[in-house]
Amino acid sequence: MSTETVDAGDTATPSREATPVVEFDGVSKSFGGNSVLEGVNLAVRPGFTGLIGPNGAGKTTCLNVVSGYLRPDAGDVRLGEQSVIGLRPDKVARLGVSRTFQTPRLIPNLSAIENVMVGGGRHHRHGHIAELFGIPAARRDEKDQRARARELLGVFGLGEHPDRAANQFPIGSQKIIEVARGLLNDPALLLLDEPAAGLGAEDVDRLVEGLNGWLEERPEAAVMIIEHDLELITRLCPTAAVLHFGRIIQNGPPKDVLRDPVVVEAYLGADVAAGD
Ligand SMILES: Nc1ncnc2c1ncn2[C@@H]1O[C@H](COP(=O)(O)OP(=O)(O)OP(=O)(O)O)[C@@H](O)[C@H]1O
Ligand SMILES: [Mg+2]
Repeated sequence: MSTETVDAGDTATPSREATPVVEFDGVSKSFGGNSVLEGVNLAVRPGFTGLIGPNGAGKTTCLNVVSGYLRPDAGDVRLGEQSVIGLRPDKVARLGVSRTFQTPRLIPNLSAIENVMVGGGRHHRHGHIAELFGIPAARRDEKDQRARARELLGVFGLGEHPDRAANQFPIGSQKIIEVARGLLNDPALLLLDEPAAGLGAEDVDRLVEGLNGWLEERPEAAVMIIEHDLELITRLCPTAAVLHFGRIIQNGPPKDVLRDPVVVEAYLGADVAAGD
């Protein structure tokens, strides 16, 4: 199956012709002698894109490379015309890239709303000094950020206890709070590393509704989502790329991709394909 000829399927809204938000171009990365990414080429267009593959395939490494946490040994990653190679994570964040981590990184004793507000660096026009002295414009910024953070918690169905400490929420809710944090700055690219791992069905629905609601209002934004929950990938993503031993072995509508014998053989197991 050629990735260029398949239709995006019935869930597709973004077109395959849309300009990519991020492009991986021949990205390779080794750790010691262990080659983890081998010439990864991938164009991520507006809307949801799934990145799937077995444990250790290199999925998180891909996100680390886009978000400035790792520098690849070869190749380029571009946001529009801008290469992110060599940029630090905070600089990449200022270009409009937000991410979550496989294990949530909340500040346990801060409230849910304050944890969402931690994502507010990019649009801050006033420096820490202004905030320190409570200069009115900085206070206004803080007020706006707080209002937006509260709104986002509501979008994900977590608006009831904004002032409760993060560590008082179940793990599923903590992961969703981290996603809300990622959206505070209205990123051009949101990178989610297994957002549904550890979530119950109700939390998964919250996550899906919140992300869909956010993306509906921002048709130009892209969400790249790593997930082992293939049902969720099928539900959300018009396209999914399969990474296997550091190479993209398939890319297309999830239903087609998951039926591809190469993918089934490579890692998913015959029962997954048969169960579709
Ligand atoms: N900083 C690092 N130093 C050394 N090896 C690493 C580093 N980061 C990742 N690796 C190795 O690279 C390989 C790919 O890891 P990666 O975390 O990208 O996989 P993954 O596809 O996200 O897997 P999982 O589904 O288990 O999260 C693994 O063998 C891992 O041990
Ligand atoms: Mg991973």
